[in-house]
Amino acid sequence: MPALANAKTVLTGVKPTGAPHIGNYIGAIRPAVRLAAEHGRSYLFIADYHALNAVQDAKALREDSYQVAACWLALGLNPEKTVLYRQSDIPEIFEIVTILSAVTPKGLMDRSHAYKAAVDRNKEEGKDADADVNMGLYTYPILMAADILVAQTDIVPVGKDQVQHIEFTRDMAGYFNNTFKKPVFKLPNYQLESGVAGAILPGIDGRKMSKSYGNHIPVFIDSAARRKLVMKIVTDSRRPEEPMNPDDVGNNVIFQLYSHFATPDETLGMRSAFEKGGMGYGDAKQQLYDVLEREFEKPTQIYKDYMADRKKLDELLEAGAAKARQVARETLSAAREAVGLNRLK
Ligand code: TRP
Repeated sequence: MPALANAKTVLTGVKPTGAPHIGNYIGAIRPAVRLAAEHGRSYLFIADYHALNAVQDAKALREDSYQVAACWLALGLNPEKTVLYRQSDIPEIFEIVTILSAVTPKGLMDRSHAYKAAVDRNKEEGKDADADVNMGLYTYPILMAADILVAQTDIVPVGKDQVQHIEFTRDMAGYFNNTFKKPVFKLPNYQLESGVAGAILPGIDGRKMSKSYGNHIPVFIDSAARRKLVMKIVTDSRRPEEPMNPDDVGNNVIFQLYSHFATPDETLGMRSAFEKGGMGYGDAKQQLYDVLEREFEKPTQIYKDYMADRKKLDELLEAGAAKARQVARETLSAAREAVGLNRLK
């Protein structure tokens, strides 16, 4: 067996919120798949109970959860190596929530960015501070801490918006370990997605790529639809023969997108063609389409195959849950014992 670069445990949770776009892929999915492959133990789970605070539509939750599993499998996650499961299949997590709740000050939850943002929005709109805030949203950080602590996680790859959650997780683990004088929970570290990971790609209208702007290119679409979206990228009226200055090339949406999917040589090639003059936007779009096709044509087929075979997905997720529950039971047993309850039988 090849030596693993790192014997640590890495864990990521993904809320089921629909199909990803190519910006999600570059910024979060690809780096997490790589990180999982590099580490001795890796866990990836569908945070379905976290989604329940906002998605209260059974059909959507079920469908979106399958989508997450199919998506990560299609994009290279190896289920033999990375433990892939549904959060809701690990009951130990929820018992740990109850245990952590007993040592977590309410004030910590009051300081949560997500909760504070909801309160601020309500105040701005002249509503009651806690309007539409359910307890699931309020205690979201405790559930997230349980997700992480149950697996004795070393590293959680996160975007900036999630850093506070990892700090809170460390706080809660520390409260517990200090209160009961037993090192039951390992304090995790976050790894900030930086550089290409965490990158924000421009959308086809030049603004940040986002589903809410409707300017995104989905990962899993057929080739004709992909081509159509690429051809819709907004450009200026520069003529093909006009040379472009280096800054303008760097700011060009086609070039920016291309550079994330092309090899370094291909990227240099497009850059010099723009700078010399003679490269029209139509040609550049064709090249962008080609590299997207190279990257996503096969995964799109794999994704479709998984989505057409829910039984297969269920089997994979159940096998993952069985593995995840082994470490979960050990952690929960140790926590129960530390507070004066029986170990699990
Ligand atoms: N809060 C994360 C998000 O919104 C999802 C998540 C839930 C998570 N539990 C986790 C991420 C544990 C990492 C580790 O993206």
